[in-house]
This record gives sequence, structure tokens and C-alpha cells, in this order.
Amino acid sequence: MKRQMHINLFIQSRGHHEASWRHPGASKLPLTDIQYSVDLAQRAEKSLFDSIFLADVLGLWNDVEKTPFNWLEPITTLAALSMATSRIGLIATASTTYTEAYNLARQFASLDHISRGRIGWNIVTTWSPQAGSNFGGIGQVSHADRYERAEEYMSVVNGLWDSWADDAVIDDRAGGRYADRSRVRPINHDGVHYKVAGPLNMPRPPQGRPVLVQAGSSDTGRSFAARHAEAVFTAHLEKTTAKAFYSDLKRLAGEYGRDADHVVILPGFSPVIGSTEAEAKRYAEELNELTDPEIGRQRLSLRFGGHDFSHLPLDRPLTVADFPDPSENEAARSRTEVFVGFVREHHPTLRQLLAKLAGARGHFTFEGTPEQVADLMEDWLDDGAADGFNLMPPVLPQMLDAFTSEVIPLLQKRGRFRTKYKGDTLRSHLGLARPERA
Ligand SMILES: Cc1cc2nc3c(=O)[nH]c(=O)nc-3n(C[C@H](O)[C@H](O)[C@H](O)COP(=O)(O)O)c2cc1C
Repeated sequence: MKRQMHINLFIQSRGHHEASWRHPGASKLPLTDIQYSVDLAQRAEKSLFDSIFLADVLGLWNDVEKTPFNWLEPITTLAALSMATSRIGLIATASTTYTEAYNLARQFASLDHISRGRIGWNIVTTWSPQAGSNFGGIGQVSHADRYERAEEYMSVVNGLWDSWADDAVIDDRAGGRYADRSRVRPINHDGVHYKVAGPLNMPRPPQGRPVLVQAGSSDTGRSFAARHAEAVFTAHLEKTTAKAFYSDLKRLAGEYGRDADHVVILPGFSPVIGSTEAEAKRYAEELNELTDPEIGRQRLSLRFGGHDFSHLPLDRPLTVADFPDPSENEAARSRTEVFVGFVREHHPTLRQLLAKLAGARGHFTFEGTPEQVADLMEDWLDDGAADGFNLMPPVLPQMLDAFTSEVIPLLQKRGRFRTKYKGDTLRSHLGLARPERA
């Protein structure tokens, strides 16, 4: 039997293209209307996606006049989506740097109970410089410190989720005994950054622990993922870097004594789908005509922690010397490595680079027919670049609908995607075991 792929729907703004919000194929609903997220999650569930995913940036970007890069808070949104869906997995981002560990453990345990075992946590350390000024005014925590804290954070939250044994609740009403106290333990964590006594004030989540998802791909991010992540989101502009990332992360997971199959790698994929290749390309051009390169320039600056690119002309070919060294970037390190790698390889002008990034912020973009999209997905799966995809439709819902109606049936016919859900939890969709209580 051929290997099947996993598909997650990444819901953001009115689509992942920078100009999606202005496109006629985008939803007419306000981004603060929960019905918008409900409609998309239900469409993804109908098409048997593994999960939906919501990002979070903890601050308002300075381009709000020209782009709606804001949405409802993800944890509360997942509670609503839990009640509007019944099978699909639900993943939300939350920050290890700016969230109290006890709160985060409670909220995700609570969501896992509410959804009956369908929750994943996208662990981020938060790269965006604005976040630092919104949380205690401490400024941005350095890249190295963020990951160091995150490491300790994981032992706190995993300890809290494990603080109740699965059989701790007796609920013997006649006998008058609710819980077996000997099956509930404190964690007494006394570390460098965190002091948390525990136990959690809630029984163990249905999945044991929420599925741990991670999305940082720098060297430090990779070793963090290799130790903790069960699913990994990653951004690549080209298959070659996706393949290198895939084999490196699987190898690292093995070195940490983990089963590499239990680290599901999902690169971002943003296809524009048309009934002919020319039609898809026309749609992409229409979208690009709606963009403003100055917004792209601001976003590029943000990824490099505020670096000034204002002097760069739009139409001269770029070289690596036009960019700061990504390995010294305190913001979105691996994403800037992707950008600079692309410049090294292709020497685009700034205008061309910004047009490329407008599609999906540095994730893989593609224009083609449903057959071409399905071929590409199969190729990445078979060629060691992916275990599945983080689908990032450029326009929501129009390009999601094109994908579900045209591409999903092809993948199913080719034996590459499920034709029904086999289980009810996110762990079962992703083929992950329920963790034992440590
Ligand atoms: C698909 C995807 C989604 C992400 N979502 C978020 C997010 O919601 N919030 C955030 O702060 N960072 C997000 N990131 C960024 C990473 O978590 C990470 O902060 C960034 O890549 C910098 O870490 P690194 O230097 O290890 O790569 C996302 C990355 C990817 C690939």
C-alpha cells in the first residue's frame, strides 16, 4: 500500500496571500466573526483533514492600515471550534516566552477535555519584537534565552499534564470518594526560570498530553523539535531545502532516541489552483497586482528584527551582502535563512523577492492544475521532503474549496489520502501513540 499523507489546514487572515483580504474570492465575513473560523474548520473536517491550525503573534504589526494581519485569540477560538466539529484535530499556537506555564498547561488540558482529545499545541518561543514590549516591558528575549527557557518550560508542562494518573478520578458517589489522592502528585519544579509546585487542578487530558507541535527550524529550533515535537511545521521556498531539513530532523530525532516516524514533518504549501496552468498563473498575477511592495519591505524588516531595508532599490538584483547575517538574527532566524538562501541561489530583485514572499511569507507557493498539485504533493512525500502538508490556501475560502473539491478526490483515488477517519483523536489521525505517564 502506498504511504498516505497528512494534511493540516492553516487558517490565517482571509488567506495566506498578503492581498487575499481584497480578493473577490475571500469570505465577506469580518475576521472577528467566529462563523468565519467555524465554516473553514467544518469544510476541512468534511474533507477529512487531520487538523486545522491557528497562529498567534502577540502584538499588532505596523502594517494594519494596509493588511488585516489580526484575528481572534487562538485558545478561545479552539474552544468554540471544539463545539462546532467532532473529528478534526485542532491546533493552536501559544508562546513559551510570554505565557505562564501553569496557565498554558491548564488551558490546553481543558481544551483537550472540551474537544474529547483533538488538541495540539504549536510550541513557539515568539520571534516578533513587538511581543516583548507587551509583556512586562522586558523587551525582546534573545533567541538563545528563548529556547533555553522553552526547554525548562517543557518539563514543567509535561509534568503538570502527568500529575494526575489516568485512573485518579474514582467518582464514587455512593462511597463518597471522588479521587484517589495517591494517584495525584505535585511536580515541585524548582528550576532556573520556573518554580511550579503543581499538581494541575484538572484530571489528565484524554490524549495524555496534547499533541506537541513545533515550528522553529534554526539549529536550536531543530534540536528542540527533535526532543519534543510530534509534528513540525516548517517553511521552504524550494524542495531541496525541505529535503535537507526533513532528513536532518529525522536523523536528530533518532539521535535523541526517538522513533523518527513519530515526528510528522509538514512543510507549508500554498497552491493557486486553476483548471489550466495559465488560469492559475493569471489568478496569482491578479493577487500580486493587489500587493504593495512597501508592505513587503516592512515585513521583511520585521523578520530581521527591525533591520532597515529602506535604501534598497526595488529593481536591482540582490546579493547576500544586502542582508544581515541570519545566524545573528534574534527574531525569525530560520525564516531569514530561507530568504537569504533563495537570494544566494537566484539573485532576484527586491521587487521579485517581495512578490515571492507575498504569496505565503516564505512557504512554498505553486500555480497549477489539480493534477499538477497532486503530483507535486506525491513527489514531496516519496522524495523524502514531507510526511504531509500544512496547507496554506492563498485565498480563503475560494482556494480551499478548489483544493477540497479537485485535489482531495485525486489524492484519494491514488491511495494517498484517507477516505474516512479511523479514530477520534488528533493522535490517531497523525499515527501517534498516547504517551505513558512519566
Ligand atoms: C507554519 C509556521 C507557523 C508559525 N507560527 C508562529 C506563530 O504563530 N507565532 C510565532 O511566534 N511564531 C510562529 N512561527 C515561527 C516559529 O515558531 C519560530 O519562532 C521562528 O521560525 C523562529 O525560530 P527559529 O529561529 O528556531 O526558526 C511559525 C513558523 C511556521 C513554519
